[in-house]
Amino acid sequence: MKIAVIQGPNLNMLGIREQHIYGPMSLDQIHEQMKGSASQNGVELEFFQSNLEGELVDRIQECLGTVDGILINPAAFSHTSIAIKDALSAVNLPTIEVHISNIYKREEFRQKSITAGSSTGVITGFGPFGYHLGLIALTQIVAEVKAVEAQQTEAQAEVAE
Ligand code: DQA
Repeated sequence: MKIAVIQGPNLNMLGIREQHIYGPMSLDQIHEQMKGSASQNGVELEFFQSNLEGELVDRIQECLGTVDGILINPAAFSHTSIAIKDALSAVNLPTIEVHISNIYKREEFRQKSITAGSSTGVITGFGPFGYHLGLIALTQIVAEVKAVEAQQTEAQAEVAE
């Protein structure tokens, strides 16, 4: 199983930016931890971070046919980007949106996520541990999707016989 981990603007500054909100861990450290738990479950992760909306849209489009699910923190673009929401809807893959902070506890402009409407589920407010929770949830969802697809293929083969 392959999962794309897509990180939006300013998340490359984790460990430096607003530590009282986002904590001391760097993005590399978070990704290293994720790799550890993913490999134990036979999950391959592809990491990508960009500060540019168009690059994030391109990366989401590339997910079609190449990965089984998307774990995404669109960061500030969550609150503004119809383009990222549309890209997620277009590829229509199991998707979990993660926020390190609890966006519902913060400024009003952060309390609405446009992109979340194209996600299977949202995890917010658990710190970097949210990525771990998201990975567990996504692995389970993708496994269920694959099981249903396998059943359908089997049923179609029986009908064809
Ligand atoms: C964030 C929350 C966003 O409002 C903010 O712009 C971010 C990070 C989070 O992970 O808590 O950059 O997505």
